[in-house]
Amino acid sequence: MKKFILCLLAVLLIASFAAAAQAKSLVLVFSRADENYQVGYITKGNTMILAEMIAEKTGSDLFEIKPAKKYPADYDTCIDVAKKELNQNVRPAILEDKDISEYDTIFMGYPIWWGDLPMCFYTFIEAHDWNGKKIYPFCTHEGSGLGRTERNIGNAAKGSEVLKGLAVRGATAQNNRGQAENSVDSWLKSSGF
Ligand SMILES: Cc1cc2nc3c(=O)[nH]c(=O)nc-3n(C[C@H](O)[C@H](O)[C@H](O)COP(=O)(O)O)c2cc1C
Repeated sequence: MKKFILCLLAVLLIASFAAAAQAKSLVLVFSRADENYQVGYITKGNTMILAEMIAEKTGSDLFEIKPAKKYPADYDTCIDVAKKELNQNVRPAILEDKDISEYDTIFMGYPIWWGDLPMCFYTFIEAHDWNGKKIYPFCTHEGSGLGRTERNIGNAAKGSEVLKGLAVRGATAQNNRGQAENSVDSWLKSSGF
């Protein structure tokens, strides 16, 4: 009997290790380079800098959402295009899709645009099944923090659990990577990673 119980415990232990090894996470990000507020012309978007840090620290895959029609490089023009998209509640086409069925944890990274997610992010969210997935939102911004995005993600990604998000100033991510990394580290730690 004792032998049987020991065997059973061993099997359960191995099964739980196997399940943990299979749990996969994904960093899903949209980020725009070119001209931006406070940072001028940049070659890597502010949010992408955080996304790469998070992917590396958590061993996650990374997938970039790319709109089929690139947003204007000029900041003021981009602001106008984004405002129009928000007001008209459009879903801009994206270049490539990603199967997210194998991931149970998704880090969602985006810049705050008019207090919200860029509309192309909704295009991706609404095309997928979020049942049972854990979402950790993170953003860069220049004053709005996470804005309305945590609530809006919860409404769009039905069946998911949206956990505490991270907001970092875009200029900090771009020009003060040490400080940005500290914010990422403490957020990941407090989120149990
Ligand atoms: C179209 C557009 C709208 C923006 N709206 C806001 C806003 O409402 N609140 C805010 O704090 N920052 C806003 N910003 C600033 C961006 O959130 C910030 O620069 C961010 O770091 C850009 O990230 P990215 O380089 O990854 O695209 C806006 C920027 C753009 C281009």
